[in-house]
Amino acid sequence: MWFIAWLEGRPIGFVGVGMHNDRDVDEMVEARGYALVEDLYVEEAYRRRGAARALMEALEKVARDADMPGIILDTGVDDSYAAARALYAALGYVDQGGVYLGGWSDPDRPGVHIVDGLTIWIKPV
Ligand SMILES: CC(C)(COP(=O)(O)OP(=O)(O)OC[C@H]1O[C@@H](n2cnc3c(N)ncnc32)[C@H](O)[C@@H]1OP(=O)(O)O)[C@@H](O)C(=O)NCCC(=O)NCCS
Repeated sequence: MWFIAWLEGRPIGFVGVGMHNDRDVDEMVEARGYALVEDLYVEEAYRRRGAARALMEALEKVARDADMPGIILDTGVDDSYAAARALYAALGYVDQGGVYLGGWSDPDRPGVHIVDGLTIWIKPV
């Protein structure tokens, strides 16, 4: 399920959430029974106006209404993720520690594959 933040008729941010599904082993292992947050992003020009907070609060309400025990997500440990870590801490997510490596491919730069140090954050709902 995807949530889009709109400002004056224009989409300025988004976030996805996957609900735990015990018929999908990959999802079950990755999400550990929690609602799994993916790909939170707010356009640079519209940051610090509460869009990410509103997206996360909308997602948390859906997870609560679906009786999920909590929300799980991962985020990077380097400086480029400082805003995200501050946001999650402000919203009550707790860093579980234990850095691991995650990789992704940048769709804007074909052939560029990035590896980040990540930690898991959890918030009960
Ligand atoms: C992280 C991100 C989604 C935050 O979006 P945003 O709309 O600017 O966040 P909000 O305005 O809702 O911020 C809510 C709270 O989070 C914290 N926060 C957000 N950005 C922050 C920053 N740059 N520095 C410190 N705290 C920050 C603050 O507590 C803020 O509340 P305040 O503005 O009242 O102080 C945005 O910076 C982004 O898209 N970054 C690049 C992509 C990314 O890192 N995604 C997450 C991957 S895990």
